[in-house]
Amino acid sequence: MKLFVDTGDVKEVEKAAELGIIDGVTTNPTLIAKSGRGFKETVQEICKILPEGDISAEVVATDYDTMLKEALYVSSFAPNVVVKVPLIEPGIRLVSELTRRDIKTNVTLVFTVGQALLAAKAGATYISNFVGRVDDLTLEGMDAVRDTVSMVETYGFDSEVLVASVRHPLHVLESVRAGAHVATMPFKVIEMLFKHPLTDSGLQRFLADWNAAGLHILE
Ligand code: G3P
Repeated sequence: MKLFVDTGDVKEVEKAAELGIIDGVTTNPTLIAKSGRGFKETVQEICKILPEGDISAEVVATDYDTMLKEALYVSSFAPNVVVKVPLIEPGIRLVSELTRRDIKTNVTLVFTVGQALLAAKAGATYISNFVGRVDDLTLEGMDAVRDTVSMVETYGFDSEVLVASVRHPLHVLESVRAGAHVATMPFKVIEMLFKHPLTDSGLQRFLADWNAAGLHILE
């Protein structure tokens, strides 16, 4: 499974990139606004930090002609930019056109398999199924992820199912169980994945026994 960081914070991307396990970054207009910096400079900096990663940058227009103009401009920021497009009618038309132009896309704000089918048919590189915002309604956000993975596999679509709106490690576990291709999450969730009390106590015991025996690796 690919691990993406969901952020517009360049410092957070730098910290995550040091782990050597991050495959990409997803931004969105809210995350960019929170960064307090310009859109293009932020996306270009993130692209430079992870030159091998897929970096999603979202268009904000909602009419086809302007969306196309924005998409071509955003795509020019760096070779590893993925154009993020909301699942609205002009958005699907745009994804079909960008697919024809061999430009990678990430269709966002997907909540149902019906929507995911439209994105897959348009040739979306990534389909961003949001789970947290559905869970927030006391509904099962992961249901649509499971069905979307099954749909992509059944019909052999090239799209990758990207679990978005991830709130905690359980969403990551459920994404793995569902066979999702990608999970994108805030860096704090990645940090939470490291945590287990038995890891901490086990390491403490190893080091206590080692030190009690007066052993060294480096003389
Ligand atoms: O960036 C896409 C998605 O992960 C954002 O989800 O619910 O955390 O705003 P959310």
